[in-house]
Amino acid sequence: MARTTKKGAATPEEYIRAAIVDAEERCLLLEAVISGHTRRFRDEAQLLEIIRHLGSVSLPLRPRIWSAGCSTGEEPLSLLSLLKARGVTAIDLVATDVASGAVEATKAALSNCDPLTRVLVIRHDLVHEPPPQWSFDAILCRNVLMYYEARAARAAFDRLTTALSDRGRIFMGAADLLALRPEEGDRNMRLQNAVEQPKRRAPQTPETPRSGPAERADSGGSLSALLCEAEAALGMRKLEQAEELLLRAEELAPDRAETHYLFGVLHRKRGDRGAALSSLRRATFLSPTLWKAFLLLADEWRLAGHAGRADAAERQATRLKEEAESAPEGSVQ
Ligand SMILES: C[S@@+](CC[C@H](N)C(=O)[O-])C[C@H]1O[C@@H](n2cnc3c(N)ncnc32)[C@H](O)[C@@H]1O
Repeated sequence: MARTTKKGAATPEEYIRAAIVDAEERCLLLEAVISGHTRRFRDEAQLLEIIRHLGSVSLPLRPRIWSAGCSTGEEPLSLLSLLKARGVTAIDLVATDVASGAVEATKAALSNCDPLTRVLVIRHDLVHEPPPQWSFDAILCRNVLMYYEARAARAAFDRLTTALSDRGRIFMGAADLLALRPEEGDRNMRLQNAVEQPKRRAPQTPETPRSGPAERADSGGSLSALLCEAEAALGMRKLEQAEELLLRAEELAPDRAETHYLFGVLHRKRGDRGAALSSLRRATFLSPTLWKAFLLLADEWRLAGHAGRADAAERQATRLKEEAESAPEGSVQ
């Protein structure tokens, strides 16, 4: 909301249209809405697989690695320490993220690397900018593309493949595959739960035109049922059950605003203020017309001591609710 006002946009929709064509603003927007959640040794089995891969393609030469969407640096740091434990320190590592705060944190996290390790940490938007012109033996792009709709995720994936060495590979998280190949994501997830993509193997499935967020084509019915059940469970304060249903819904369609709205409700019921704020912000970003989410968001901003943001969200909720109520019966909101 603050950015909307600062940019002189009258509505969130107008702001988003402006942000899309303004690189600086786009980064600020992404920084505000995309989770930077990471942790050391996340999906360690996959990190070990990456090390095996590097052993077979790059050693004894210096392995060239790109951690794309590195967040605060735990991912590259974990990989470096696993390599170091195997006596490999002569490494070329590039770590990038769209969020400047993440870049600064990564620089700090990697500042004490082995002297033989060459590290470059820069801000880079892998969805909108060309990749660094290096030949990487391994590109880690884990838990990043899952935030994008299929078309953007595939375009970014295709671009990443151009930065691979001959036998280089891209390693992604399972949820990223859902964004990349929504129709096949579920099956792949069961099979591997940690996906590596060989060089230049762009997704083979035909492009499915879609205007909304990534969502499995056949998931509409079951997704709605899951959300209904989750809402009912929340109403009965069956919080564990609601969480399980919402996690399943998120797996089917990571960017469905309703799911994040209900996660917001769940976190509020648990008194987890930070998580509630984050889920509700995500819901309002994904669906700038979801007045219920704006209403709860207003309350969370108020509880967090941000009266201005709270007022703005409340005004937005009121306006959207009035619009929804005055819309002709049967029209889709
Ligand atoms: C959930 S974190 C994942 C961090 C790490 N890869 C991991 O798996 O633990 C997602 C990160 O991707 C970054 N990100 C999102 N969109 C991006 C983009 N277009 N270009 C570069 N980084 C992006 C976010 O800023 C965030 O730090």
